Amino acid sequence: MLKVISHKTAAMIAAVAVLSVALAAAGRADNNTTGNSMQAQIDHGKSTYASKCSHCHGPNLMNSGTVTPDLRAIPDDKTRFVTTVKNGKNNKMPPWADILSDDEIGNLWAFVSSRRKP
Ligand code: HEC
Repeated sequence: MLKVISHKTAAMIAAVAVLSVALAAAGRADNNTTGNSMQAQIDHGKSTYASKCSHCHGPNLMNSGTVTPDLRAIPDDKTRFVTTVKNGKNNKMPPWADILSDDEIGNLWAFVSSRRKP
């Protein structure tokens, strides 16, 4: 009887060990997901930019010889970016609040930030 219990205990210890390895692996997978989702936001922002913004702001975030600002050099201020994109500016920059979701605008910010000039 005693022997049976100790077998069970050993099995239990083994199960706990397997579980903690699995949990550690899951933790690493989570970290990878975070990294990938930042890249996914940038990629998504890039395609939204190409379809909605590039004809004014230029394919590479700037359009020299026009009134559009170089988006690689705008202030590092997400609130200002989101407000400008939602509401537009000076009747020259069109408002996007009815067209783009908060997520899409957040992804645009991720894309623009990733191309910031040092
Ligand atoms: C019809 C042309 C046009 C389109 C399309 C357009 N913009 Fe603009 N944008 C402008 C102009 C012009 C300005 C400058 C307005 C001013 O300062 O008077 C501007 C300004 C901005 C600014 C302000 C920068 C600052 O000073 O903080 C941001 C940010 C911006 N645009 C982002 C975007 C994004 C993102 C998109 C795509 C969703 C977009 N724009 C689409 C013309 C456009």
